[in-house]
Amino acid sequence: MVFVPSVAATLVAALSLTPIVVFAHPGEKYGKREALEEMGNAHVVAVMNARALEACQNSPAVKARKERAMARRAETFARLRRERSADNAPWLHRRDAAALQRWAAQSHDKTGSYDFNKDTPNKEIFGSNTSCVLTPDNANGPYFVYQEHIRSDVVEDTVGVPMHLEMQFIDVQTCEPAVGILIDTWSCNATGAYSGVSARGEGGLGTTYLRGVQQADEDGVVNFDTIFPGHYQGRATHQHIIAHVGSEILPNNTYTGGHVAHLSQLFFDQTLRDTIEAMAPYNTNKIPHTTNLRDWFTGYAATEKYDPFPNYITLGNSLADGLFVWAELGLNTSSNWDYYAPYASTWKEGGGYDNPNFDFRAVASPPPTHG
Ligand SMILES: *[C@@H]1O[C@H](CO)[C@@H](O)[C@H](O)[C@H]1NC(C)=O
Ligand SMILES: *[C@@H]1O[C@H](CO)[C@@H](O)[C@H](O)[C@H]1NC(C)=O
Ligand SMILES: *[C@@H]1O[C@H](CO)[C@@H](O)[C@H](O)[C@H]1NC(C)=O
Ligand SMILES: *[C@@H]1O[C@H](CO)[C@@H](O)[C@H](O)[C@H]1NC(C)=O
Repeated sequence: MVFVPSVAATLVAALSLTPIVVFAHPGEKYGKREALEEMGNAHVVAVMNARALEACQNSPAVKARKERAMARRAETFARLRRERSADNAPWLHRRDAAALQRWAAQSHDKTGSYDFNKDTPNKEIFGSNTSCVLTPDNANGPYFVYQEHIRSDVVEDTVGVPMHLEMQFIDVQTCEPAVGILIDTWSCNATGAYSGVSARGEGGLGTTYLRGVQQADEDGVVNFDTIFPGHYQGRATHQHIIAHVGSEILPNNTYTGGHVAHLSQLFFDQTLRDTIEAMAPYNTNKIPHTTNLRDWFTGYAATEKYDPFPNYITLGNSLADGLFVWAELGLNTSSNWDYYAPYASTWKEGGGYDNPNFDFRAVASPPPTHG
């Protein structure tokens, strides 16, 4: 796991020089994919500010926060199961520290599968060994929509495996929850199309499915009800995240202004992906899968301190009952990565509008926060 700066530079250069090629062919969103995938196999290790990580690990405030997180996740899990009348169903799978170590050892071709039962203590399941995590920034991609709805349920009428996503954001400057920031998330649907953008093959400017914004509560927590994303050409399954700091929430439940302090993508472990992709309607998408290892952008998300795969647990007997997925992410609220967060369109009164100043050059490169 060696970071080769010239690889990143070459990637940026390649994409900067070919913005038209990159976006002219539907299904070839990142163009030059073969070459990039080769480079992507040399995973980037971004070990950032490890001292800051260690420093806050054992503070009473951090310990108390972890206790609250554990209780909260256990409660959410119980509620989601009740809502699906799955209280008594057995459940499967989670990722734990051992799985993280396997990730760090770069052998995530096999992921862990652990069976728990009702007697398993909450701490085992919902406890987190991450402390003041510094989550690496990642590329924004070309499909960010500015000023989306503030709402936690983004499913609309899309079909797929229900996914309740809980994310907790910690400001690495203070190791305190990032209270009040806005978290924007979006993904493609089960067959790989994004809403809100005019690019060919996507849902169109009039659609808003699987996009939403939430304000982080006093523990820095946001919750979304969405579906497990599908896949498209050249990318591993992923969920986009942007953190806005200092935005104003508008009376019509959208937001404006502020600056982008963090951009990232959550990835999902390969076993989970493979299982869901075999289910309808995911399996109607015949575009070849890109594995986590083959995806260039997973490299940006992998550090010794951060696992890009969120924890997850199934809610019932089968994956069709849905998943509870959670992650703790660190960000620096003083960072300003607006340059790296160009938006393809804006959601306004009357619908979506293309951004005439969309800057293609910045969509494929992450902010320079990688060691
Ligand atoms: C956290 O890590 C410690 C030491 O590695 C381990 O003993 C403990 O079980 C872990 N806790 C959880 C909740 O994974
Ligand atoms: C957070 O970002 C600010 C502004 O770029 C920088 O001065 C500071 O060192 C960063 N803090 C950490 C802990 O990374
Ligand atoms: C995904 O979105 C596209 C474009 O809106 C649509 O044609 C397709 O049917 C959707 N897939 C599913 C499974 O709903
Ligand atoms: C919400 O209000 C703002 C400010 O008036 C406006 O610019 C925006 O178009 C509105 N958005 C929607 C979806 O109506």
